[in-house]
Amino acid sequence: MELTANNLVEAVILNRHSVRAFTDQTVDPEIIQDLLRKASYAPSGTNTQPWKVYVVQGNSKLRISQQVIAAADSIYSGQCSRSEFSAPYLYYPEQWFEPYMSRRRENGWGMYAVLGISKQQREEMHQQQLRNFKFFDAPVGLFFTTHRQLEAGAKMAIAMLMQNIMLLAKAQGLDTCPQASWNDYHKIIMPILGATDDEQLVCGMSLGYADMNEKINSFHPSRLSLEEFAVFLQ
Ligand SMILES: Cc1cc2nc3c(=O)[nH]c(=O)nc-3n(C[C@H](O)[C@H](O)[C@H](O)COP(=O)(O)O)c2cc1C
Repeated sequence: MELTANNLVEAVILNRHSVRAFTDQTVDPEIIQDLLRKASYAPSGTNTQPWKVYVVQGNSKLRISQQVIAAADSIYSGQCSRSEFSAPYLYYPEQWFEPYMSRRRENGWGMYAVLGISKQQREEMHQQQLRNFKFFDAPVGLFFTTHRQLEAGAKMAIAMLMQNIMLLAKAQGLDTCPQASWNDYHKIIMPILGATDDEQLVCGMSLGYADMNEKINSFHPSRLSLEEFAVFLQ
C-alpha cells in the first residue's frame, strides 16, 4: 500500500492502543519536547490553549508514585476512607447506568481475563490497579492541568492535545496510556508538580516504549459498529 498523508494518519489512529506495560528504555528528551511542541497545534476554543503539561521522570516521578501508591493501599486496607481522596472534577457519573455500565464492565473484565485474573482475585485486581500509579513502568509520566475557573471547553481542548500526543508518539514507535485514575490523588500530585492553586488536574498519561512480551498489551477492546453510533439525516 502506498503511504499517503491520508492513510498514514489512518494507520496511526488504528494502531494506537492504550499500553499498560512498558520497557525501561528511556525516551530522548528532544523527542518529548518535539512531541509536545507539535501536539500544541491542537485546536482550542478561541485559541485559549488552556493547558499546562508537566513531564515527570526520575525523582519527581518516583515521589509521586510512592506517595500515591501508599494512599491507594491505605484505602484498600481500610486504614483511610476513600472520601479523603476525591477527584477535582467528576470524570465519571456518580451512578452508572446502561449501556455505559455494561461497556465499562466488559472493558474491565476483558482486561482481567487477558491477565488470567478472575472476579474472586481481589488482591490481584488491586495490584493491577496500582500499576497505574507506576505509570505501568513507563519512564515518562505526563500530567495535564488547566485553570480551575475554565469550563468544559478547556477539558475538550486538553483531550485534543492528549490525542495529538498519543498519535505523534505512536508515529515514532512510542506508546501511551491516558490515565484519569491519577485524578483522585491530585492533592498529593499537584504540590510535587509545583502547580499553583489556580490549576486543576485534568488527566495523567504514561509515555514510553511498549513491552510487547506482556500479554496485557494484546488487549484491544472492540468498538461499536457505525450503525450503533452514527445517525445520517437528509
Ligand atoms: C481520558 C481517559 C482516561 C483514561 N484513564 C485510564 C486509566 O486511568 N487507566 C487505564 O488503564 N486506562 C485508562 N484509559 C484507557 C481506556 O481504558 C481505553 O482508552 C479504552 O479502553 C479503549 O482502549 P484503547 O485506548 O486501547 O483503544 C483512559 C482513557 C481515556 C480517554
